[in-house]
Amino acid sequence: MKHTPLLAAPFAILALAACTTTPTPEPEPPAFVEAACGGCHGVQPPYLSPNTRAPSFASIANRPGVTRATIRAWLIDAHNYPEQMDFDLTRERVDEVAAYMITLRRADYVPEQ
Ligand code: HEC
Repeated sequence: MKHTPLLAAPFAILALAACTTTPTPEPEPPAFVEAACGGCHGVQPPYLSPNTRAPSFASIANRPGVTRATIRAWLIDAHNYPEQMDFDLTRERVDEVAAYMITLRRADYVPEQ
């Protein structure tokens, strides 16, 4: 019993260090977003779009007035799609995209190049 505090102490310090040094993680895009959208749009850091005509998801999310609802509405109305985005999303997929995209909206957003 005498040894217990000696063994426990290093673990406690490690646990504390892990808590204080872990940076806030960037949100992860759902796998299908990477597969279906990532070929053209920058969907995750550093948000550089492979297709330069496609705005990054961060830049879409940080436009004035954009909310989860406006993203959903845009994605549901297939007539808004540019020609290259020739696909239909189910409502579940729309919800997933909108939920993810709105996590990229930041008060301190700086447009990427
Ligand atoms: C083949 C390339 C391509 C793929 C794949 C693609 N996009 Fe796009 N997307 C574009 C382009 C190009 C534009 C810009 C069109 C314009 O400005 O006229 C765009 C625009 C958008 C916009 C609107 C930006 C605005 O101007 O308001 C949204 C939202 C969007 N895409 C979401 C998605 C999502 C979600 C997916 C995956 C499910 C996806 N895109 C897949 C090429 C693509």
